[in-house]
Amino acid sequence: MEIFRMNPDHVASVAAIELECFGKDAWSVRSVAGELDNKLALWLVALDGDTVAGYVGSQTVMDETDMMNVAVTAAFRRQGIAEKLVNALVEELKSIGSHSLTLEVRASNAPAIGLYEKLGFIQTGLRKNYYRNPREDALILRKEWKA
Ligand SMILES: CC(C)(COP(=O)(O)OP(=O)(O)OC[C@H]1O[C@@H](n2cnc3c(N)ncnc32)[C@H](O)[C@@H]1OP(=O)(O)O)[C@@H](O)C(=O)NCCC(=O)NCCS
Repeated sequence: MEIFRMNPDHVASVAAIELECFGKDAWSVRSVAGELDNKLALWLVALDGDTVAGYVGSQTVMDETDMMNVAVTAAFRRQGIAEKLVNALVEELKSIGSHSLTLEVRASNAPAIGLYEKLGFIQTGLRKNYYRNPREDALILRKEWKA
């Protein structure tokens, strides 16, 4: 499994994994492709040969980064791929001068919360009823590092 920056060849697979994982809230092919032209965006993919197993998307303003999404397709879960993606993202972010990574996660999303806790994220807030379909609170988690 290797981690690369997302390029146009990966967009359809990333959007398909979005649909698999997030249904109606998924980013479309067009919105994922738009990130390739977005100077604030940095998206990484995990490749098994030519197959996109997962991805992480982020946007950075000044020295603060928001994680847009991280997902791994079902057949590749529990193999450390998300952990590798987020760690690779943090290393890339250090090199571009970001000092933090912040994200929202559904309060019931135990796998994702487990992932973020393992990686040293801490809860800094709670947004009541942030999500719809189904309605649910969002935990705001954040990880910071020195330059
Ligand atoms: C959350 C998700 C990205 C994890 O991907 P993954 O590649 O399976 O995760 P990893 O194998 O790297 O797991 C790393 C750690 O996360 C935690 N974790 C992962 N899956 C878990 C699960 N099903 N239950 C509990 N903890 C879990 C564990 O701490 C794990 O470490 P361990 O294997 O040493 O116990 C994946 O389940 C997924 O794509 N879910 C759907 C999309 C989603 O909800 N994304 C997050 C949106 S905020």
